[in-house]
Amino acid sequence: MAAVVAPIIVASFSSPNGLGRTPPMGWNPYNRMKSSGFKWVPDETIVLQQAAALASTGLRDLGYTYINLDAGWSLKERDPTTGRPVPDPKLYPNIANGGFARKLNAEGFEFGIYSDAGTLHCGGKGPGGLGHEATDANAFAEWGVSFLKYDNCFVPANESDPIPRYTAMSEALNRTGRPIFFAMCEWGYSDPARWGPAISNSWRTTADISDEWWAMVELADLTAIWFDAAGPGHWNDPDLLEVGNGGMTAGEYRSQFAIWSLMKAPLLISTDVTSMTSETLGILSNKEIIQINQDRLGVSGRLVEERPEDPAHLQVWAGPLSGGKVAVVLWNRGNTTATIMGRFVNMQLFGAASVRDCLAHKDLGIFHGQIERNVSGHDVEVMILTPSANQPRRTPDNEWAARWAGHGIRSPRSLAESSHGRRSAITGRPNTDRKNRERRALGL
Ligand SMILES: *[C@@H]1O[C@H](CO)[C@@H](O)[C@H](O)[C@H]1NC(C)=O
Ligand SMILES: *[C@@H]1O[C@H](CO)[C@@H](O)[C@H](O)[C@H]1NC(C)=O
Ligand SMILES: *[C@@H]1O[C@H](CO)[C@@H](O)[C@H](O)[C@H]1NC(C)=O
Ligand SMILES: *[C@@H]1O[C@H](CO)[C@@H](O)[C@H](O)[C@H]1NC(C)=O
Repeated sequence: MAAVVAPIIVASFSSPNGLGRTPPMGWNPYNRMKSSGFKWVPDETIVLQQAAALASTGLRDLGYTYINLDAGWSLKERDPTTGRPVPDPKLYPNIANGGFARKLNAEGFEFGIYSDAGTLHCGGKGPGGLGHEATDANAFAEWGVSFLKYDNCFVPANESDPIPRYTAMSEALNRTGRPIFFAMCEWGYSDPARWGPAISNSWRTTADISDEWWAMVELADLTAIWFDAAGPGHWNDPDLLEVGNGGMTAGEYRSQFAIWSLMKAPLLISTDVTSMTSETLGILSNKEIIQINQDRLGVSGRLVEERPEDPAHLQVWAGPLSGGKVAVVLWNRGNTTATIMGRFVNMQLFGAASVRDCLAHKDLGIFHGQIERNVSGHDVEVMILTPSANQPRRTPDNEWAARWAGHGIRSPRSLAESSHGRRSAITGRPNTDRKNRERRALGL
């Protein structure tokens, strides 16, 4: 009797609260605030204008439905009677009465808030949740909150282990009875990809992004190594999108959007959507790339080929999609146009596949064994490959996902250099991002 081989189930849905079947999409003001030197201070009116613009531009209907706040919404002191955090009455008069969430819900959005697993919010203008988890979680639930970003500033020296701090909030959120997406912002210090899936819906894999090519590239590399940790209900988070903030070229922003989508990162827009250019809107509203991010298989893409030796700036990133398809990003991290070739064997494909160009929105025809495209410097080509019908059997989704487990380059060459040499392998610039992370960890 032939042995029956049980399919290995990978990337099955597991979530502490039933949320996050696909990566969250929405808006957060932080990168826009930072790009203004924190002179741009969102309040209720401004946030509702952003929501209205997300709706009128069609972004809401493409899936960008979480409207999240970052640090700055709260007074520093808790309410002396209830012990609860107090929304700044000048900026957010209707959070605590539930009116703000109701207004967002009525427009088809969900309301997200921010707190911190230390004694104060980052920036120092709000009370951290450490030791107040139940009080704060209950307040958030009552206010109609559906998403919590939980930061890592002002951590007392004797509380350096993040696991109990984040677990306490996860459990407090659970006890409210309200499903609240739990986005851990631990900056990747203690490898949260290893312990995050059990208690959260997403975990930051890195320090903060900045609106510069080299920083974005480094965050992609630092995140890609954790490809096997992501899955439906629990995602790697390399931080907010910078698309639209002006520090990168269109090709560089296309790169961020494509790689973030492929890695199944949260797609959180962080620019002023009331004044974005049509180029910005075009990048953020690419349906075919959003589909890669939101595909039901929920398996992260990863780096599968890189060349030449040094610097290895011509890269092939790929990941499986439902229905036996493959999403491919050819990423030219060099400065000038170059031909990038991706071999099907590195994409778990054999034989022929039809190729869809997700940027030009056109079919490129049938390719055999490999795909070769000319890619501009600091830019990407994004494609979906569908195996031709005459290929070996199509496998069910779970077996297809399982075939990708552990398959990919875990140590990009650039990373070895950037994490040990303290400089970006891409541009040679000093790694100030890491310095900022150290400053923030000290609460400076
Ligand atoms: C709380 O946790 C239990 C057990 O994991 C889970 O079944 C339930 O859905 C969670 N509830 C919320 C509101 O997160
Ligand atoms: C850290 O110190 C504070 C204040 O003394 C105390 O309340 C808390 O329990 C300590 N935490 C740990 C993990 O020992
Ligand atoms: C691209 O240009 C930068 C700045 O001139 C340089 O440091 C870097 O090595 C170049 N990258 C490649 C892959 O040639
Ligand atoms: C890339 O560009 C070169 C020079 O224009 C051209 O000869 C070649 O056919 C192009 N390759 C692809 C794959 O389009």
